[in-house]
Formats: sequence, structure tokens, C-alpha cells
Amino acid sequence: MAELMKGLKRTHRCAELTAADVGKTVTVMGWVQKNRNKGGLVFVDVRDRSGIIQVVFEEGKSDEVLIEKAAKLRAEFVVAVVGKVEKRSGAVNEHLATGEIEIIPGELRILAESETPPFPVEEKVKTKEEVRLKYRYLDLRRPDMQRNLMMRSKAATLIRQFLANEGFLEIETPVLIGSTPEGARDYLVPSRLHQGHFYALPQSPQLFKQLLMCSGCDRYFQLARCFRDEDLRADRQPEFTQIDMELSFVDVDDVIDVNERLMKELFSEVLGVDVPLPIPRMTWQEAMDRYGSDKPDIRFGMELTDVTEVVAGSEFAVFKGAIENGGTVRGINAKGQGAMPRKKIDKLVSFAKDYGAKGLAYLAVQEDGTVKSSFAKFMTEEETKKLMEAMGAENGDLLLFAADKNKVVWAVLGALRLELAKQMELLDKDVYRFLWVTEFPLLEWSDEENRFMAMHHPFTMPMEEDIQYIDSDPGRVRAKAYDIVLNGNEIGGGSVRIFDPDIQSKMFEVLGFTPEQAKEQFGFLLTAFKYGVPPHAGLAYGLDRIIMLMAKADSIRDVIAFPKIKDASDLMTEAPTPVDAKQLEELGLEIAVKE
Ligand code: AMO
Ligand code: AMP
Repeated sequence: MAELMKGLKRTHRCAELTAADVGKTVTVMGWVQKNRNKGGLVFVDVRDRSGIIQVVFEEGKSDEVLIEKAAKLRAEFVVAVVGKVEKRSGAVNEHLATGEIEIIPGELRILAESETPPFPVEEKVKTKEEVRLKYRYLDLRRPDMQRNLMMRSKAATLIRQFLANEGFLEIETPVLIGSTPEGARDYLVPSRLHQGHFYALPQSPQLFKQLLMCSGCDRYFQLARCFRDEDLRADRQPEFTQIDMELSFVDVDDVIDVNERLMKELFSEVLGVDVPLPIPRMTWQEAMDRYGSDKPDIRFGMELTDVTEVVAGSEFAVFKGAIENGGTVRGINAKGQGAMPRKKIDKLVSFAKDYGAKGLAYLAVQEDGTVKSSFAKFMTEEETKKLMEAMGAENGDLLLFAADKNKVVWAVLGALRLELAKQMELLDKDVYRFLWVTEFPLLEWSDEENRFMAMHHPFTMPMEEDIQYIDSDPGRVRAKAYDIVLNGNEIGGGSVRIFDPDIQSKMFEVLGFTPEQAKEQFGFLLTAFKYGVPPHAGLAYGLDRIIMLMAKADSIRDVIAFPKIKDASDLMTEAPTPVDAKQLEELGLEIAVKE
């Protein structure tokens, strides 16, 4: 039978105790990490979210009944200990914050017993993630997970404080909203009172925050839950949290300014890491040309080189064909990788193919200056020499080339660059390199939809100097859109919004909306804009991604208390689940079972 608290009050969390508390009588409560029974001498480690304290039950110091009771404790029992803090009689434990002290107990209460847990509650367990997620409440007891949750909480508090000081109002926007197309797939919620009608869960508070600007709120923010029914990856969850904000009477630089200072404050306060300001900026075009990615990891070099001109005259069919098709030839130089075995190079080739490459041409410069290559035989010695020069090749380097349409070349070399950096151990998690990527294209051609799609969303303002091309060459128009990138992760993005009805109509036209369709889907926003809309702009961060990077975790699942797995289900609650026939009937729904 569990014992009761009966008015017993905790005085300290376990690891809040220090040598300064020696001599004090204290009360700690927590879980038994382990006990070691040395016959008449029982060491019990008690753990709470602050850490661990050692409690020593010793003949002569504690009474016998107490020692017997302590000997029966097992892992994860919940206990309360009242006792005196003393300097350790044994050796100091350097690995423990409380390693200099221990508690000599006068009282022990067992508040709850525990069955043997399915895995040990310890830092860095090797338990399979499926098991951890099924017993998430136990997994969250582990010190690394507790640290992540505490860091997340601290960050959220700081962000709120910072934005409040900058004049932002925290305003909640609805979670049951109307479905709008564009972007990811919506999660739908059937309406009982309006059968056959559905709410959608917000993919972001975008429309509402723009309306709040129309309402004169001036500066808004929210730690907003967003829902997107898309394929999951390590950095994507079906529900995730944005630090969402919008500002009135501003342009790109104003949004960047307040956000740079936010990041500086956050990283300094939480991690003690200095973020030098201003954060460097790079246009989208430059990011693609130099890194093959719109979220370049600038912790390391290995930049792309465009060698189209250099190989233009060569007879190598692959290069020649790509150039004739309007493509380019680009390469990267993996420094010091020239001795890479053929098998490993073949793996890189198939890696490249996964990203859409038809192949990957390589040239490995050996230490003695000789060359092993998949294509040098198709080129003259002079051509090869020029190519190596253009790539800055030295003895011992490995050159890799992709030839195709720009989009493919960038995707392939961008991914390859990261893969090589991983293999070459160039990615230091202690280094934080921020980057703004600006001037994104406004529109992106979709072969699937056979029309232009908004690259960010349909309310993004084109750059003034490019508006003239919106009819003649829509693909050329750049947007007042910006992403903030950290170590190759897109941690946030935003834009200046269209507040001119003529530009907005034009935008809908280019996106293939009829005026009726635009009105049907965004009518309330367009109407609101008729009553005095201030110029406005905003940005939203993925809070989970920021915390993942701060915590040096590999997945956002490790910084979300109750995340979902790849198939969007929850292993603990087993959601989603079937519902009662009665519930379906009330909603006017029937399940069509697929063969
Ligand atoms: P965007 O769609 O770029 O912009 O989202 C903003 C940021 O949210 C994070 N993010 C995600 N994090 C975890 N799981 C996901 N599935 C996921 N999807 C996005 C990313 C991303 O940078 N309304 C606009 C913002 C604006 O224009 O103000 C928006 O939602 O870190
Ligand atoms: P092939 O003549 O098809 O055997 O190709 C010769 C070399 O060029 C091989 O190493 C291929 O992997 C490589 N290759 C093929 N297509 C491409 C491409 N689009 N870009 C770069 N290299 C390629």
C-alpha cells in the first residue's frame, strides 16, 4: 500500500542541493534510479527532473526498519526522503552535480511502487524508438528528454517576453477554420450541425494574422499549432508549432531586424552562444548557384562550380547532350577524397540517382597526380586539365559532376554535398551558422498542375522592379520573401504581403484562379482589404526545428512531448482510431471501404 504525503512538504529538488546545504534537514521526492544493497548499507539514488541525489541508509546512522525498507526499493518507485545533508563519506562522484554530498535519512516513504519498466530510465538508452513512444511517459523521464522539454519551455518563455517587449500582442486564432487550397493537404473535421460541410485545421494562421493587421493590432504573435497532412520526415510532423508573427507599416528590413535580435537573445540566453549580427543574407539565386539548395548549410564549403562553359566544346556525350537540352554541367570538389574506393563512389552515384540524376561523372585525382575517371577518356587531355583547374583540383581530390536541367543538377549536387559532409565529418553540432535567403522566385511551375503555383503563398508581394514581367515572364518575378536558415535547416520563412487589390487580382489570375474562385476562397480577406489595409509583413518559425537544433537532437520528435510516427499515428494512444457507428451517423458520414 502506498504511503501518503500527510502534509509532508518537499524542500528542494534533488539536484538543487549543494555543499552549501550540508547540515540542513531537507525533504526530497522523486523516483528511485537504483539502489545498491551492501548488507546493512544501502545506497539509493533518487531522481527528479533536476537530477539525482544519493541517499545512504547505514547501520548506526539510520534505524534498522528504515534500512530494511530501503533494501526493498526497486527502480521507479516513487519516494519521499527526509534527512540530513552531509559531505560524502565515500569518494566524490565527479559525474554528478550533487557528487560531493549525500542525504542521511531519518524518514522514507514509498509513495508509489512501480512494475519493472520496459526499458531503463537512463540517459541515451538504446531502446527502439517504437518502444520509447509507446511508453512515452517513461521515455520523458529520461534526463536527455527532460532537458529538451525544459529547454523548450525556457525558449518559449523568452520568445514571449522578447516579443512582448517589442510591442507584439499575443492573440489566439481559431483552429476550426475553412479549408483553403495551396500548400499542403488539410486535415478536415466534419461538422455535425452542417452535414456534408467540413472545417479544416489551420496549416498556419496566415489569413487571420493578416486580418489582425487590418484590425489595427499593429504587431501580432502566437505560438501557434499548425496542421499539415503531408509525408513525415525527421523535421516534419503533422502537427507542429510555429512562432508566428505579423507586423504593420514595415518592409523586409524591419522584419529581419527584429528577428535577428530575437535569435541573438534566444541563443545567448538558452545556450550561451553568440550570434553575430547582422546575419548574412544571400539571394535565392546565389544560394542555388553556390550550394544547390535554398537552405544552404554554410558550416562548410564544398561549393558548386558551374563548368558548362569549360566543357562546352568536349565530345563527352553526357555533357554535350545536357547542354544542348538547355541544361548545365556543375561539379563539386570533395577535398582529400581522391582515394575513395570505387565501391564507395558507386554508392555516391546511386545516391545521386535517388535525387533524379541520370548518372554522376567523377574524376579522382590520385596523390601522384594521375587521374581515375568515368569520363576523362571522352575528353582531350587539355580539356581535362582545364576542367580540373576550374574545379581547383589538387592531388588527392575527388571531383563529381552532374549534367542536366538546372533543377536536377542543383537537387543532386546539393544533396551530395551534404552527404559528403556527413561522411567527411564536417558537420559540427556545436557550431550555429544562420543565413537569410532572400528574393525567392514568386512563382514555381508545376508540371503536375500544369500551371504556376505560389512558391510561398498567394499573398506574397512581388519585388517592385519585377512586377513588369508578371504577364510576359512570370517565372522571372522575384518575391519579397525570405527564409531564415540554420545549419542547412529552414527554421522560418515569411514575406511582405500584397496589400494592393490590383496586384492581388493579378496574382490570382497568374495562379489560374477565376475572380469567382478567388472570391469564394479568400473573399473575406479581399473584402477586408477594401476597408483600409496597412502595409504589412511577417514571418513564422518552426519552433520544433529551432529547439531540435538547440538540443542537438536528430529529429523534432525528440523535442515534442507526444509526437507522431512516420505514418502519422500515435503509438501510445493509438490515434487515429475508428469511431462508433453512432458518431458517424450524427455526422452524416459513411465509410467507403476500399477493396
Ligand atoms: P511556412 O510554410 O514556411 O510559412 O512555415 C513556417 C515554418 O514552419 C516550419 N514547418 C514545419 N515544422 C515542422 N513540421 C512541419 N510539417 C512543418 N512545416 C513547416 C518550418 C517553416 O519554415 N504562414 C507562413 C509564414 C509567413 O508567411 O508568415 C508559413 O506557414 O520551419
Ligand atoms: P555513360 O556513357 O552513360 O556510361 O556515362 C559515363 C559516365 O557519365 C558515367 O560515370 C555516368 O555515371 C556519368 N553520367 C551519366 N549521365 C550523367 C549525367 N546526367 N550527369 C553526370 N554524369 C552522368
